[in-house]
Amino acid sequence: MLTEKKSRVQKSLELWKHAEDIIMDGTQLYSKMASVGVKGVSPVYFVKADGVYAWDYEGNRYIDYTMGLGPCFVGYNNPKVKKAIQDQLEIGTIFSLPNPLEIKAAETLIDIIPCAEMVRFMKSGSEATQAAVRIARAYTGRELIIKGHYHGWHEWCLADTTKNGGIPKAYKDTVFEVKYNDIDTVKTLFEQHKNKIACVIIEPMETELPKDNYLQKLRELTIQNGALLIYDEVVTGFRFALGGAQEYFGVIPDLAVFGKAMGGGLPLSAVVGKKEIMQKAKEKIFVSSTFGGEMLSLAAFLAVVDILKTEPVHERIFSIGNKLRDGFNALAKKHGSKIECIGLGPRLDFNYRNLKGQTDLHVKTLFMQEVVKRGIYFVWNMLPSYQLSDKDIDYTLKVFDEALRITTEAERKGNVSKLLEGEPPIKVI
Ligand SMILES: Cc1ncc(COP(=O)(O)O)c(C=O)c1O
Repeated sequence: MLTEKKSRVQKSLELWKHAEDIIMDGTQLYSKMASVGVKGVSPVYFVKADGVYAWDYEGNRYIDYTMGLGPCFVGYNNPKVKKAIQDQLEIGTIFSLPNPLEIKAAETLIDIIPCAEMVRFMKSGSEATQAAVRIARAYTGRELIIKGHYHGWHEWCLADTTKNGGIPKAYKDTVFEVKYNDIDTVKTLFEQHKNKIACVIIEPMETELPKDNYLQKLRELTIQNGALLIYDEVVTGFRFALGGAQEYFGVIPDLAVFGKAMGGGLPLSAVVGKKEIMQKAKEKIFVSSTFGGEMLSLAAFLAVVDILKTEPVHERIFSIGNKLRDGFNALAKKHGSKIECIGLGPRLDFNYRNLKGQTDLHVKTLFMQEVVKRGIYFVWNMLPSYQLSDKDIDYTLKVFDEALRITTEAERKGNVSKLLEGEPPIKVI
């Protein structure tokens, strides 16, 4: 726990205290709050980043496995992205009329994303999932939606969470959350609410693989019930394949939403889908954004696509990500730890279990503490960049080995809590 002993990130904690005083929540994204790491040990501010490395306020360097929470899949300061932004900056960032760059970017999405026949650009993932659901409701004339866990900060996404302050109660009755792979609940909901469900919006994969043809079954159920299938590819998009997880799994939705990695670090999102649906919905809805056609992000997006097309990005991300996962699990076995690394190479996570196999926050905290002290950074999950070198991966596995040894030894001695130098991470929703 935080004691009189000076924290390794003392200066940052003081800055954070001030930030909490003047910025609501201290920062703009929950996953960047000081409380998501081991407060007192984990870095709080990054002041510089390059490639796959980030430097904290105290000057410590980390291999960053979070990469801006996803946007910087192609690496920080990627030279091709940087050049595209610099060139575009000479031309302009935003005009009073659309620039043809919007058309080029739209054609590019239509070319690479299987379900894309028409597109609409926005800035954040939340905006784009909101637009997708509005399109689905307008197209079907229905109000109810089935959703996964997190799709952004708007009303229908948070209505059923502990953070639903300020959201009219009525929203709660329009949304049903389903767990990934739980096809029976989806089936039951369609039976209970015949002709009332507008869409199923889910992430095509988080860290659990689709079981028993889950995606195909969702596709069939939505068709049978006249509802749309929407993939939230804000995280999976561009990471799993150039055409997203829909290309990777070969099950094509009606609409899909992209964000994060598509702008190479600049704010860009898009809703894409079948033309017939988007054409029909557009007569009834209003979606409009001053910065929607901002050009630095569109130029960065074209550079990202060029990188993904010309470099063996996906081969590499699966190879290094899977090596990390399998390497971690082999080390856990060696030490007798029950912590498990799950997911596919481009998106990994950990199940933090103690030696009895129970979810254990203190075991998680100790493991994260020992990892972060050795210069490896991640929060909820790992969204690695394909630019990680073999040396980075080898070093990371060495750190995992040491952190697993310390954690399991402490578990056996029963002194996990005593070894904690910071506060356990807090998940908000
Ligand atoms: C699956 C998913 N959808 C949507 C969003 C919202 O994106 P943004 O934070 O850009 O609004 C997120 C953000 O983490 C996400 O993980």
